[in-house]
Amino acid sequence: MPLLKILHYPDPRLHKVAKPILHVDEEIRRLAADMAETMYAAPGIGLAATQVDRHVRLIVVDVSEEKNRLMTLINPRITHKEGEAVREEGCLSVPGIYDKVTRAERIRLEAMNLDGQIFQMEAEGLLGVCIQHEIDHLDGKVFVEYLSRLKQNRIRSKLLKQEREAM
Ligand code: NI
Repeated sequence: MPLLKILHYPDPRLHKVAKPILHVDEEIRRLAADMAETMYAAPGIGLAATQVDRHVRLIVVDVSEEKNRLMTLINPRITHKEGEAVREEGCLSVPGIYDKVTRAERIRLEAMNLDGQIFQMEAEGLLGVCIQHEIDHLDGKVFVEYLSRLKQNRIRSKLLKQEREAM
């Protein structure tokens, strides 16, 4: 299976809002598998379809040490948020940049699995943060947008410079 190309901030395609998935078909299963492989190879703990320029509501997540707890969430929707936690975040679309973001400490969500079944789950800690971060991607939001305007401008210049130097 091919590794997918990950878009880098400030690519405007990262701001597209992803569409709900109506049917889990072979194409979606293949995309989910390719996204998981791309995430593990990066390596990363989460990847949203938006980041590989596919604008459908699909995310893959694995926050385990052993990298054996892959979760594929289709049309994930947060139904309840509780508390507040600050954690340093990074993103495969914003290489080399890490900063603190405040998010809900615990979430409840509803999603569909690759068999097309809807399920509910609760998440907290790193998993909770990761899922909130990935759902933001589906809504066209990158974590740096929680930072100050000044920091965002610095990050944008730094990444554009890196991109130029890489060409
Ligand atoms: Ni990200």
